[in-house]
Amino acid sequence: MAAERIAVLGLGTMGHGIAQIFASTGHRVQAYDSAGPARDSLKDRIRANMDQKARLGLSPGLDPDAVLDRIEIVSELEPSVEGADFVLEAVREDLPTKKELFKKLEDLVSEETILASNTSTFPMTEMSRGLRHPQRTLVTHWFNPPHIIPLVEVVPGRDTSEKTVRRAMDLLDRNGKLAIRLHKEVPGFLVNRIQAAVFREIWDLVEQGVATPEQVDLAVSSSIGLRLAAAGPFEIADFAGLDITGHVFGHLLKEISSSRSLPPAVDRLVKEGRYGVKSGRGIYDYTPERIEERQSRRDRLFLELVELLHSPTKRPE
Ligand SMILES: NC(=O)c1ccc[n+]([C@@H]2O[C@H](COP(=O)([O-])OP(=O)(O)OC[C@H]3O[C@@H](n4cnc5c(N)ncnc54)[C@H](O)[C@@H]3O)[C@@H](O)[C@H]2O)c1
Repeated sequence: MAAERIAVLGLGTMGHGIAQIFASTGHRVQAYDSAGPARDSLKDRIRANMDQKARLGLSPGLDPDAVLDRIEIVSELEPSVEGADFVLEAVREDLPTKKELFKKLEDLVSEETILASNTSTFPMTEMSRGLRHPQRTLVTHWFNPPHIIPLVEVVPGRDTSEKTVRRAMDLLDRNGKLAIRLHKEVPGFLVNRIQAAVFREIWDLVEQGVATPEQVDLAVSSSIGLRLAAAGPFEIADFAGLDITGHVFGHLLKEISSSRSLPPAVDRLVKEGRYGVKSGRGIYDYTPERIEERQSRRDRLFLELVELLHSPTKRPE
């Protein structure tokens, strides 16, 4: 079967790594962003990702020039999706923007073209409302950094056809991704809901003065972070014993946060312009050197862990 032609729309944090994955496995990729700097820097960012992998000896036989040659950068929407079999949008997380984009796309591609969204939260049923052919739309939710993290959540909308789901799952599988199809469409899907529960509790602990953010980061990455990389939470509970975990959590559920609003500190930090690495200040302060050092350490560890735990021959059953 000939490799599908892929269009990636939005070339920021997520789109550039997604384009890299498809081009690395032999697909022709048409890459579009409405912002010039995102288009102009695309190939440099992908080359840097590939260089890092090569330095670790993890991409034998992959020629960066050949991968980059398969990516065509396009400055207008219409030609960027011409002839595409699979269009994946990774534009900013704004419902009206995404709905407008899907509406435009409908007139530009064939009925057989799959239209996928990398949204973190919006259900496809909502984004495809009013489209003539919602059966070929679905969410494929990748994780940052998308060229490294294996999981893609596949979330069909109410009108998505089985054929669309099967084709998308097959494409992701052939691109080395671990595609998990959700059985029900809920906002935030699976993993972000779990992350939200953790996020609420860590902020509550810090606000209560139980620990500092540094201590929380160290404690979590040295315990449950490590454990969860090797075994899932249900299996961990089984090994601990449901009688024991039942006692522990039964007691703790009365104690932990059940807040339904954003932790006040997050609001405060954002109002102060402390957005995180993008503004050089967030929960921690950053210099450009520190950002570079932390990010390359993070990606190196991710790559090594993925190789250890998720290379195609060692995938969890
Ligand atoms: N960053 C993450 O960790 C992460 C993880 C999973 C999913 N997502 C989702 O992926 C999507 C993209 O997120 P990101 O972090 O890459 O954002 P980003 O801000 O880094 O990149 C978005 C890009 O889209 C471009 N863009 C905006 N509107 C556009 C339009 N109408 N047409 C074409 N290009 C447009 C912007 O110029 C920008 O380059 C969002 O839906 C987000 O929720 C993000």
